[in-house]
Amino acid sequence: MSWEDSVRRVTPYVPGEQPKVEGELIKLNTNEFPYPPSPAAQEAVRNSDIASLRLYPDPFCDPLRSELAKHHGLSPKQVFVGVGSDDVLSMAFLTFFYSDKPVLFADITYSFYDVWADVYRIPYELKPLDENLRIRKEDYLCDNGGIVIANPNAPTGISVSGDISVIEEIVRANRDSVVIIDEAYVDFGGVSALPLIDRYDNLLIVRTFSKSRAFAGMRIGYAMGNEKLIGYMNDVKFSVNSYTLNRPAIDYGVAVLKDEEYFKDTVAKVIKTREWTGKALSDLGFSVTDSKTNFVFASHRETDAEYIFERLKEKKIYVRHFKQPRIRNYLRISVGTDDEMKRLMEELKRILP
Ligand SMILES: Cc1ncc(COP(=O)(O)O)c(C=O)c1O
Repeated sequence: MSWEDSVRRVTPYVPGEQPKVEGELIKLNTNEFPYPPSPAAQEAVRNSDIASLRLYPDPFCDPLRSELAKHHGLSPKQVFVGVGSDDVLSMAFLTFFYSDKPVLFADITYSFYDVWADVYRIPYELKPLDENLRIRKEDYLCDNGGIVIANPNAPTGISVSGDISVIEEIVRANRDSVVIIDEAYVDFGGVSALPLIDRYDNLLIVRTFSKSRAFAGMRIGYAMGNEKLIGYMNDVKFSVNSYTLNRPAIDYGVAVLKDEEYFKDTVAKVIKTREWTGKALSDLGFSVTDSKTNFVFASHRETDAEYIFERLKEKKIYVRHFKQPRIRNYLRISVGTDDEMKRLMEELKRILP
């Protein structure tokens, strides 16, 4: 017998590479925003008071929670804030998925879901996307211990449908389990399930500041749902770590959220560049999914994705390649600035036959 027999062994999530290479690099591998955070954040940094760091932050992150509630037309008790949406999702898994029945999610989706399920010993069942990489609604109309749907999905970029009817049907058919909709990318053209939260007490919507708010480094995520649902999440959170967000994150988060104009302008720019990128990739022989996110998901008709990935890396252009068999011939490419995407196309023209 050794201490190793009692270790909680898990296969961890592998985050996208944060390259430490010399010189200029084009980083299109972790879906960060290509523009800096709102100038309002800079202002908040200038106004920040180091002396206040002597004190613990608000354990409910109340200034940010209230601002988010105002922004979305909710009560602060309907909002939960965490250290990035990874923290929020992890807390949601720990809180809501506590039955013997399997939690359902797609075979191709955010690859952290099965890691949380494993670490918390939650049974789960993968529901294969159809041949067009779309979810099959019928797969989620059966007995289960919970449901998680990324909408729009990652890494495919595809949105469930043009309106919320499919999501509503799934939420309505599963009143006895919690349905989590991960809306990390919704601001780039997806359809939010937010209008449903006052009607369904089993719906939890999770969002992040890491993508459309250009704040991946600050680590802010949040969930919205019925007060009771959020209350249960807080009970679990306060049983693990009561002080999650630090004081600067709470203050800067409020500042960023208030700058709606910058948010809208920069998101529109990313959407425009995404459309340009999709078209340019198609012209080079890629088939590209209908992305509603800040990345494109593309597969070349002739050339192997891993080969392209390696050649781009040699040129210090980082994109993402997954080894999962169903998507091993795809590349997930974050939308960068116009100049970065032009450089990418120039390089691809040299690589492709
Ligand atoms: C679908 C999805 N959900 C959640 C996250 C986590 O984002 P964060 O923890 O930065 O909020 C990501 C990150 O890439 C994602 O793709």
